[in-house]
Amino acid sequence: MYVTLREVLAEATKLNMAVGAFNTHNLEMLPAIIKVAAEQKTPVIIQTSEGTASYVGHHNLVAVCRSMADEYGVNVVLHLDHAKDFDEIRKAVDAGYSSIMFDGSALPFKENILGTKRVVDYAKRGGASVEGELGTVGGTEDGVAVAQEDVRYTDPDQAVEFIRETGIDALAVAIGTNHGQYKSKTNISFEQLEKIRDAVKGFPLVIHGGTGVSDEDVKRVIDLGIRKFNVGTDLLVNWNLASRHAYGEHKENTSARNNVLPALDAVAEVVEHRIKLFKNLG
Ligand code: 13P
Repeated sequence: MYVTLREVLAEATKLNMAVGAFNTHNLEMLPAIIKVAAEQKTPVIIQTSEGTASYVGHHNLVAVCRSMADEYGVNVVLHLDHAKDFDEIRKAVDAGYSSIMFDGSALPFKENILGTKRVVDYAKRGGASVEGELGTVGGTEDGVAVAQEDVRYTDPDQAVEFIRETGIDALAVAIGTNHGQYKSKTNISFEQLEKIRDAVKGFPLVIHGGTGVSDEDVKRVIDLGIRKFNVGTDLLVNWNLASRHAYGEHKENTSARNNVLPALDAVAEVVEHRIKLFKNLG
């Protein structure tokens, strides 16, 4: 079924697991991600940037996620990642995205509350869930870089107030992860995450920059309340390496499919590995 973020996170909280949120950059990646989630019997979150939503088309993404959810028999959420522009958010909600992240993390605290609340009010009318963000995740995403000196961890007391005042369904936290980190592993502040978890009392938390999180750290962050686990770069790197190889191997008049299928397999492998960890089987 095509479902909201709120629904899948409630289930993840009950089972002390995380739901994988995988960034796609095109339509072709979708079957690889959604089929693996079905095989693993877990819900899945497909997330796109505003750029990918415009490139593929909002309605096309909604239609494909809906039909693949039905075809493969799995719960699928379609989520707009790091949205900052209200008109873009409105477009996604109106087209039927079932979840929106409003990224007001660069704004002063009160402005972030006001901006997030405005998005919550609009999204709720369209039946969509909302993720907010407090603090600053480092690294680069979709070309936007955050310098290490600008990274700020999420403050636990502010998190409580933010959740209460905005009515969000999930909170993205800054605990040392970085977007786009794939050549090394992240040094996570478990101490900070524990403080946030204790303050927000079971409210679903989101980790960004999941590519850089080591396999060993996945269980630890889930046990500390992470319910949505974002992975983007790992998919991209493996897609690009596999398709580069395929393009080099095949003749120029080969079916375009032959250059895409190895990339799909590479993405499916990453997704399967991650989802198995996110189930937190012990
Ligand atoms: P990575 O690309 O570092 O995995 O981060 C993904 C993410 O957090 C999307 O918001």
